Amino acid sequence: MVNYKDLGLVNTREMFAKAVDGGYAIPAFNFNNMEQLQAIIKACAETKSPVILQVSSGARKYANQTLLRYMAEGAVEYAKELGWEHPQICLHLDHGDTFELCKSCVDFGFSSVMIDGSSLPYEENIALTKKVVEYAHQFDVTVEAELGVLAGVEDDVVAEESHYTKPEEVIDFATRTGCDSLAISIGTSHGAYKFKPEQCTRDPQTGKLVPPPLAFDVLAEIEKKLPGFPIVLHGSSSVPQEYVDIINTHGGNLPDAVGIPEDQLRKAAKSAVCKINIDSDSRLAFTAAVRKVFAEKPGEFDPRKYCGPARDEMTKLYKHKIIEVLGSDGKAE
Ligand code: 13P
Repeated sequence: MVNYKDLGLVNTREMFAKAVDGGYAIPAFNFNNMEQLQAIIKACAETKSPVILQVSSGARKYANQTLLRYMAEGAVEYAKELGWEHPQICLHLDHGDTFELCKSCVDFGFSSVMIDGSSLPYEENIALTKKVVEYAHQFDVTVEAELGVLAGVEDDVVAEESHYTKPEEVIDFATRTGCDSLAISIGTSHGAYKFKPEQCTRDPQTGKLVPPPLAFDVLAEIEKKLPGFPIVLHGSSSVPQEYVDIINTHGGNLPDAVGIPEDQLRKAAKSAVCKINIDSDSRLAFTAAVRKVFAEKPGEFDPRKYCGPARDEMTKLYKHKIIEVLGSDGKAE
């Protein structure tokens, strides 16, 4: 058993309380490898932003759970080395689907876990979430739950259709489970293809897809029911078209990739939404940078020469999100 406090990590409780009060959101960036982790920590250290490092069960399998634990511990030390005196870094399980997986993460030094019972019938979601909360809270590990279904693909999580969260259920769910935060469905979606072309309109000038707006009325209803309760948005990549274009003009093929416009996320961050999940944008930044090097320097075969530029591009992306979208810069001095 490893307690996250011994690794220098923090849970989400205080982060979220401050974010709800301050009208900003904490970035929750997924990582699978060293370059992503370096880029996240560098961006957060340079902007003094609290951060949630997210690991999906797929990432855990890919990177190895033992290595991940030491990477998170190393991240705290790296942050200090970069001059960030009091790093606020949370290690979070993204989309845990069983009690056993959540327990194993709590036992391995995670400071926060998500139990995603959103595909289960309501009462089963409550029972599973409650069981995870009861275990995690013994070690002061915070728990995110989900109500409502997001469309899209994210590692092992696939859903064809979305169902908005029902505001009339949130008080009962939060009270009976004791969860610390709630992921809701208001129209965001996982992956780089968040909407089908038929759900969008097209910008007549650029020909690019314009997605439908998020359901801010549903968010407002939920906020009214649970004032001050931390709300989480998954599937919040914006799918920057400049990355999609770089990928497509350098041998890639991502037709009609589309995300959530940043102005909508900025608006959400000012509300009770205090955690915004971003994974696909970092994948796109990485891939765009790597494809560019491969196309421009076909003789290159030193991974540092293409992973290095990819890391720089991701650092730029994370800083942009922190400063221009979430407003979390300067909140962890
Ligand atoms: P994106 O695919 O929009 O980056 O969403 C990531 C996510 O929600 C992880 O849980």
